[in-house]
Amino acid sequence: MKYEAPVGKTIFDDAKIVGKSTRRIDGPLKTSGMAPYAYERHDVASGQVYGYIVGSAIAKGRIASMDLEEARSAPGVLAVIAATETDPLGSSNFNTAPLFGGPEITHYHQAIACVVAETFEQARAAAALIRTTYDRDEGEYSLSRTVEQAASDTSKIVSENVVRNGDFESAFAAAAVQIDQTYTTPDESHAMMEPFATIAAWEGDKLTLWTSNQMIAWGRAAMASILRMPKENIRLDSPYLGGGFGGKLWVRVDAVLAALAAKAAGRPVKIMMQRALTYNNATHRHATIQRVRIGADKNGKIAAIAHECWSGNLTGGMDENGAAQTRALYAGPDNLTASYLTELDLPEANAMRAPGEAPGHLAIEVAMDELAEQLGMDPIELRILNEPETLPSNPSIKFSDRHLVECLRVGAESFGWANRKSRPGTVREGRWMVGMGVAAGYRGALIMKSGARVSIDARGKISVETDMTDIGTGSYTIIAQTAAECMGVALEDVSVDLGDSRSPVSAGSGGQWGAASSTAGVYAACVELRRMVTEKFGYDPETASFADGMVRDANVVRALSEAGPLSAEDTMTYGDFQKEYDMGTYASHFAEVAVDAYTGEVRIRRMLAVCDAGRILNPLTARSQVIGAMVMAAGAALTEELAVDKRFGFFVNHDMAGYEVPVHADIGQQSVIFLDTLDGVIAPLKAKGVGELGICGPGAAIANAIYNATGVRVRDYPITVDKLIAEMPDVA
Ligand code: MOS
Repeated sequence: MKYEAPVGKTIFDDAKIVGKSTRRIDGPLKTSGMAPYAYERHDVASGQVYGYIVGSAIAKGRIASMDLEEARSAPGVLAVIAATETDPLGSSNFNTAPLFGGPEITHYHQAIACVVAETFEQARAAAALIRTTYDRDEGEYSLSRTVEQAASDTSKIVSENVVRNGDFESAFAAAAVQIDQTYTTPDESHAMMEPFATIAAWEGDKLTLWTSNQMIAWGRAAMASILRMPKENIRLDSPYLGGGFGGKLWVRVDAVLAALAAKAAGRPVKIMMQRALTYNNATHRHATIQRVRIGADKNGKIAAIAHECWSGNLTGGMDENGAAQTRALYAGPDNLTASYLTELDLPEANAMRAPGEAPGHLAIEVAMDELAEQLGMDPIELRILNEPETLPSNPSIKFSDRHLVECLRVGAESFGWANRKSRPGTVREGRWMVGMGVAAGYRGALIMKSGARVSIDARGKISVETDMTDIGTGSYTIIAQTAAECMGVALEDVSVDLGDSRSPVSAGSGGQWGAASSTAGVYAACVELRRMVTEKFGYDPETASFADGMVRDANVVRALSEAGPLSAEDTMTYGDFQKEYDMGTYASHFAEVAVDAYTGEVRIRRMLAVCDAGRILNPLTARSQVIGAMVMAAGAALTEELAVDKRFGFFVNHDMAGYEVPVHADIGQQSVIFLDTLDGVIAPLKAKGVGELGICGPGAAIANAIYNATGVRVRDYPITVDKLIAEMPDVA
């Protein structure tokens, strides 16, 4: 089915199941331990043995020698795979740095060997016996240095993405009120609960990988390229994930080494990438340096706005476009948004938790707060005053459906914004300095082609198969809701099978496109199945109705089960009409913080997000998405940072103790309000993704609240106690 034009009324506009808060259908399996994660698939292949990964001890250079003999003769060892003895693997479009290989080393903890043994402990002990020597090269590990060099030597910029409308420089120079500030964000790690893990087994030339992956079709294609084998001979199965956050958009070396090791050992091999390796071996979010300039008149009307973002990556890597949201957020006829990339020899940077826009809001939404203060204006009124009619970076593009102003107004009312004191440092409760902050949020609403197979069995039960993944987001449940709604059965009569490459290719989970895209694919398959049912019954497909397990046409009623067994498959694709629109999701984010006047410790008392993301398919699981994202935003604002060793080129804090991730319990109260909106441009369900919207803005609201509480602006994230206390007012 192709979505060629915005729809009018659909069955979802009178929905009984879609749009209703529904507990996860996979919840009982998860809470009872019956939902096996990749490393726990004990029953899928017998005789599983263990692989242990060895990472490079240098960031750049080459392996001079590897002595593997001691490891090979250690107890229980079945095979040792070393980069020095392995023919070069194929490359894939999905990975920048080679996942496994040598002798060239492109980043610290790049995998260089794998030991396979009967037990995990034997594999780990033997891995410690491998002796490797290196020829180490100097590398470049400092983003700030490459950006300084780029100021005089443009060859240091390896790629740029610049969008201009009008003449920013002249309009900025002429503006009565100007803001020109630079913000920095650090390298960050996905730090999902479940590490990368794979069990691999061969049957002849057929390979099965039970793994943990967000994008099954991408992963299968990558493995086919890397192993130089037909993708038809590879099966990926990833029904449950303990988080991904972008780190599992790509297969990692656990999958590659498990495949190689299973072949070498002649046994199924299971590998979990040890936690300490994940931070440098896998991808991470780029650090950014962001300069924001805004020029406005005395009444706050923005004339000129520029947001430029610098990030660094390995040769051939992508940038972190922190300026992306600024193309859409505020009117300002003369605007410039740009992302510049320099080269670094740190581990590969790639997509993480709303790439680009999550760190981008930490700059633009604080700059807006700074502008509001300079103008003596309420920051909400400043934003409302500068609400654009069409896309500021390209005014010929319309918004598909946008209610940002309503988000701000509803949020202000609900949060009690009127009680905020605009002068910073004026609210004191004992030792606590209290403040409130606000930020707007924008995240693109991507939609991807997505397929599914939907079947009716002889009992009238519905089953859905698609390679869509549920990374903890609730995909199982919204897909079941969609199929139940379309086929007119109860939710309990739908079963959902996800994450298997034998099923139709879906959108997968990424870029907050999963919910909207995968349900549209399920809808397409259901429309085809309904057509087949009416054909079988001799009904008019236009007038037949599906409800309560029955199919009615005029005065004839038959049970859906009579049509079974029957199966339909389809894929939803999209027409070019969508190019005329900017499809986005919008939010207002609020935070109230208390800062200890003596220690600078920050406590987040309350957070609120008001989201405009089209139809909310399941308010219960959508809320969970958003409050989880708000916690991640708190991490970006206050705690999360990979510390770079600029001499040797690696992230020092590579474990859960050193890389500090907040949890819900760190935040006093979290609230989410969903506006009741519909976006008919994006898909027949009129729904948009919402998870990543939840991380776009709250960090800035927290930073602005800290300023409101203390009068201190820290523009170098995370806002840790050491940075804050140095600037805090003297109290003792
Ligand atoms: Mo998301 S960072 O595209 O998994």
